[in-house]
Amino acid sequence: MQTKSKRIIAIANQKGGVGKTTTAINLAAGLAKKGNKTLLIDIDPQGNASTGLGVLPEDRDQTVYDVLVDQKPVKDAIIPTSINNLSLLASNTDLSSADVELMSDKGRLLRLRSSLADLSDYKYVFIDCPPSLNLLTLNAFAASDSVLVPLQSEFFALEGLSQLMLTVKELRQTLGSTLFIDGVVLTMFDRRNKLSQQVELDVRENLGDLVYDAIIPRSVRLSEAPSYGESVFQYDAAGKGAAAYLALASEFLKRDKSRSK
Ligand SMILES: Nc1ncnc2c1ncn2[C@@H]1O[C@H](COP(=O)(O)OP(=O)(O)OP(=O)(O)O)[C@@H](O)[C@H]1O
Ligand SMILES: [Mg+2]
Repeated sequence: MQTKSKRIIAIANQKGGVGKTTTAINLAAGLAKKGNKTLLIDIDPQGNASTGLGVLPEDRDQTVYDVLVDQKPVKDAIIPTSINNLSLLASNTDLSSADVELMSDKGRLLRLRSSLADLSDYKYVFIDCPPSLNLLTLNAFAASDSVLVPLQSEFFALEGLSQLMLTVKELRQTLGSTLFIDGVVLTMFDRRNKLSQQVELDVRENLGDLVYDAIIPRSVRLSEAPSYGESVFQYDAAGKGAAAYLALASEFLKRDKSRSK
């Protein structure tokens, strides 16, 4: 049997500021560090993943906009990053008009999926989604094998998750795909805070095995790294943020291996 060459994972939560981009950058960097050829696709017009990897707007010659809207070959738009094994398909504010521009296209949901179909150089492709279940996120879902959901360790963490899960289910039906929830990862966890602990209990009780054992702690270093255009492994390799994302990368690989058996 032919093994599938790449896995595509959308990192999504329609809630804003829950750690999607931080997870996309550092999980992708963690897998690259472990020797896997990895691509990060920034499909958020905010372009935070692109900036966080040190690619300035003026250096984004071609972006995911060119691929999605003008159907330029994805290979021409992918750029290397300062991290070995990690490439980037950048985004910029052009992308904010993509949903309007694609409105009249019947196949608008499948634009990204068809662009990525022939891409064979990567083992893992992560897609950093915007904070919305809009056409961009749906394109990411339609192109993906699975969805990884970061949840902020705060009171309303689970809010909106049922909507996201429903969207995944509906897409599975309309597209006949096998899209599944890869897992849920708790972010910005404060060990000393009772609320964080309560949220963890709650989330584990509700979602069981979907929840990763690895937990991402609240760490100033994690929030500082993108302003230097660096992953946490470059900015603070010995810190708790780096250790947490490396643990998440190991757990991700373990789950991936056990599924492909
Ligand atoms: N573990 C963490 N510890 C401390 N700060 C964090 C952590 N994770 C993320 N942050 C900070 O919280 C803010 C939101 O994080 P991030 O940009 O990753 O979230 P997001 O879900 O991608 O946001 P958006 O919905 O706007 O795309 C950023 O300023 C980021 O630096
Ligand atoms: Mg983001």
